[in-house]
Amino acid sequence: MQFTAKVADIRKQRSACAIIAADAKNRLTASGSALDDACGGAIGRVLKRGDLGKKLASTLVLTPAEGSLERILLVRSGGGGKLSQADYRKLAGASANAVKGFKDACSYLTELEVSGADSAWQAQQLALAAGLAGYKFTRCKSGSDNTPLAKITLHVPERKHLKSIQSGMELGAAQAVGGNVARELGNLPGNICTPTYLASEARSLAKKHTKLTTTVLDEKKMQSLGMGAFLSVAKGSDEPPALIAMQYKGGKAGAKPIVLVGKGITFDTGGISIKPGQAMDEMKFDMCGAASVFGVMHALLELQPAINVVGLVAAAENMPSGRASKPGDIVTTMSGKTVEILNTDAEGRLVLCDALTYAARYKPEVVIDIATLTGACVIALGNHATGLYANNDELAAKLIAAGERTGDRAWHMPLWDEYQSSLDSNFADMQNIGGREAGSVTAACFLSRFTGDYTWAHLDIAGSAWNSGANKGATGRPVPLLVEYLLGK
Ligand code: BES
Ligand code: MN
Ligand code: ZN
Repeated sequence: MQFTAKVADIRKQRSACAIIAADAKNRLTASGSALDDACGGAIGRVLKRGDLGKKLASTLVLTPAEGSLERILLVRSGGGGKLSQADYRKLAGASANAVKGFKDACSYLTELEVSGADSAWQAQQLALAAGLAGYKFTRCKSGSDNTPLAKITLHVPERKHLKSIQSGMELGAAQAVGGNVARELGNLPGNICTPTYLASEARSLAKKHTKLTTTVLDEKKMQSLGMGAFLSVAKGSDEPPALIAMQYKGGKAGAKPIVLVGKGITFDTGGISIKPGQAMDEMKFDMCGAASVFGVMHALLELQPAINVVGLVAAAENMPSGRASKPGDIVTTMSGKTVEILNTDAEGRLVLCDALTYAARYKPEVVIDIATLTGACVIALGNHATGLYANNDELAAKLIAAGERTGDRAWHMPLWDEYQSSLDSNFADMQNIGGREAGSVTAACFLSRFTGDYTWAHLDIAGSAWNSGANKGATGRPVPLLVEYLLGK
């Protein structure tokens, strides 16, 4: 999808569809009015008749009798005055969905006013929504193809805003590219998207880009590093595990990197503590944290910011077998701490603890792990918010703010000492599960024991990473949040 920003006179613009807004009182913005005048008040008459729904973000496609626009998409905006950011995002999403079958579109929603937001922010939301709307999973459907909008043009109402609209647009477009990469990997089934598949994706990405290098640690290497927890998860599967490291070097050689660590369980059966059958297919999404790391890497390669970022992916398949870990087994982690595995379904923390220990090698400025870690997080927050934990309030605040700006929101959860004792074990340094209570918190507590002395945050995306039901599919979250945070560095 091509993105352009320019001063686009609506009376001369050639496009398959021009997107214009009408507020609750049927008032059009400047370009909308100019177009209405040019077509003898035809748009005003349609609005007066009440054909466009009153609800915010209702849409209606009109086909003009003549002129250079093939269609006009009317979108209902707010009650007049400035729009809230959340409402603007709804307009961006609804209009992007309404035009996704057309060959191109030109949006005049840049003329609306949004409280607390500038033109760069608006352009970012429009580009992000357009990019995400163009995605469809077609890879495993015969005869299915997807021809998303080839081009979207954002109108620049005032020439002095051209630069900021352009940069906002580029950021939103890159976030969408990254989000769609994460969705595609997330949606791929477990028999295709194995740890080996993820490793080869990482290798081929590095072949295409000089700023990226990939290294893959195999089972043998992990053994020599003493990653007993990680390997205890992979043991039950015929698929070999992989610890994948993608290094994006855009900054100075000595600049400390941000390290992202993604949970990459390519299928989670639960292992010997096997899951019930109901909706088990959705455990192919248990690598969405890893997918988001890939998504961020793609976005960085688009934007080429002057920072250093390492993407670590802890990839394994969690299966029951004669070689699988059993409840009660005790393993030694790379950190030297021992863990009693009371439930083999709490496997995410077992692969992540060793990956977090490994992350210290990069002398990171910050480490952020991203994981579909707990069903308890879904119970606590549903699918609107990602659960955020951090050992540093400044980092937490930055991530929350990045989520608010992109609409990819997170909620700060407690990581208090009081929760730690639920991990006490009679037989090892700790057990891998707490009790029934606060399951998302105690999982984060477990991870916190492996973060050494670096600044760290944990994003539990169990609720936000995919949708169930009729719209089943990966969402690409939290790629927008992460890219926003990294670009703000
Ligand atoms: N991948 C799951 C978490 C999950 C479950 C995410 C459902 C989204 C929907 C994770 O590996 C898991 O199984 N966690 C257990 C932990 C428990 C055994 C302490 C859970 O949440 O039930
Ligand atoms: Mn599990
Ligand atoms: Zn899992």
